[in-house]
Amino acid sequence: MAQTFETVGVVGLGTMGAGIAEVFARAGVQVIGVEADDAALDRGRGHLDRSTGRAVTKGKLTEDDRSEILGRITLTTSREDLADADLVIEAIPEIMEFKRGLFADLDRICKPSAVLATNTSSLSVTAIAASTSRPGRVIGMHFFNPAPVMKLVEVVHTVVTDDGLADDIAALARRLGKTPITAGDRAGFVVNRLLLGYLNHACALLESGLAGRDDIDAAMKLGVGLPMGPFTLLDLIGLDTSYEVCEVLFRETRDRRHAPAPVLRELVTAGLLGRKTGRGFYSDAEGAPAAEGDRRAASVSTVGIVGAGPEAAALVAALDGAGFKAVVAENSDLAPVADADVIVALSDRPIVELAVRIPHPDRLAGLHLVGDDVAEVASTVLTSEETAGAVRDLVKILGRTPVMCGDRAEFVVNALLYAYLNDAVRMLESGYASAGDIDTGMRLGCGYPAGPLEMLDAIGLETVRDGLRALYAEYREPSFAPVPLLDQLVTAGVPSIREYAG
Ligand code: CAA
Repeated sequence: MAQTFETVGVVGLGTMGAGIAEVFARAGVQVIGVEADDAALDRGRGHLDRSTGRAVTKGKLTEDDRSEILGRITLTTSREDLADADLVIEAIPEIMEFKRGLFADLDRICKPSAVLATNTSSLSVTAIAASTSRPGRVIGMHFFNPAPVMKLVEVVHTVVTDDGLADDIAALARRLGKTPITAGDRAGFVVNRLLLGYLNHACALLESGLAGRDDIDAAMKLGVGLPMGPFTLLDLIGLDTSYEVCEVLFRETRDRRHAPAPVLRELVTAGLLGRKTGRGFYSDAEGAPAAEGDRRAASVSTVGIVGAGPEAAALVAALDGAGFKAVVAENSDLAPVADADVIVALSDRPIVELAVRIPHPDRLAGLHLVGDDVAEVASTVLTSEETAGAVRDLVKILGRTPVMCGDRAEFVVNALLYAYLNDAVRMLESGYASAGDIDTGMRLGCGYPAGPLEMLDAIGLETVRDGLRALYAEYREPSFAPVPLLDQLVTAGVPSIREYAG
């Protein structure tokens, strides 16, 4: 018979643990929240008060509902109070030694039928289970930050998990209003394995000087429609957790892209862990960026456009409308734009080859339109600051957000996006997760507008494959090479990876 869970213990009431306790209490479950000492318990109470208080302020909860929810949560510093719990979820720091010690303790304290679950983001559930005398009753129940908001729970089973337990925990997740996906015990499970590779890649691009923090964040948020840019999200997750997940991923995959970026180590060592310490990539004390006037475009009257087709025509019309004179040239003959004040080459590939063919290479920048709201502005080693500034201002005049970057393969958005899509295909190819679970995981775990395989189908398999080839040719990073499955689908003319995966 399916097991039900009426009393649930949560050990560790940091951001995640408190969020998890709230989720259970909202679903009518009695919760026992455990912390190490009174000070930590007070902090946990603070998280619960703030989160439910915010819901009242927003009119999502009445004061009565709030009291009822908080009334279902008993706070204690004694683990012994968990003796009668049906399920205990651990949400303490990601240190294996601590987790194993806690699970050995819970194994002693909790009744034999109790299920012991870990919310670990990265550590081996099998290794945690092995510290108990009931490894079959130990499972991963992985929530996403902020737990009250994100709709996904990853249910992680090991090779020794009792039959049926993953189904019972999945049913429990549904009762909490979450969507479960089940996964085996591999580093990062489904979501973190895809997410942290992408976030770490963003750190590497930042460190390489390709683009700045705000530009990369704007590119992914506005260009791809993600709820947050990578650095804002890293700050939300916590840089210590992010570092740890990357470290564990690297140990398992030996993929250099998972080796935590040095900037993460530096920030973590300096104690700048993100939102929880008030400073990470961003600082709470930081004001909004100063507004910049459209200074540089003021000296521009003629804009040269290298490109063809509807994108070039639309740009000409928009520039005309904004009072600029637009002249157009095609790649094969750049003479018509040679004397323009600034020249933009519409391109999703590096443009330095064009720069060396014109008399004023300092006046040329690349322009890559991303969706309806963003334009990447790529500077070659010859582009002058004045030109880059003028093109940035023109982009703003045209109603788009400029993303300033270097002239490298796939610039910012596609470099980050295509490598992430390739990782998703690799996961599908390995048989670790189904196409549906991969897409659901990223949509509900991270609030993405679409899952990676849905995005791949929407962009086009061949476009992504070719972009990956360009990335690989430039960076020689083995994991940028298109996964064989992607290459084969393109060669075979299969238009949709989701249809192929069934
Ligand atoms: N606690 C409780 N509720 C919160 C909250 C919090 N910390 N933060 C936001 N909310 C609620 C708000 O109350 C609001 O609810 P209503 O719509 O009912 O009013 C809702 O979330 C939206 O909030 P806001 O309008 O204030 O803010 P937003 O629209 O910018 O959304 C966000 C905030 C939900 C966090 C959104 O930006 C988002 O989805 N970001 C992506 C988060 C993500 O990727 N999480 C996964 C990280 S990976 C992970 O956690 C796993 C791991 O192991 C590392």
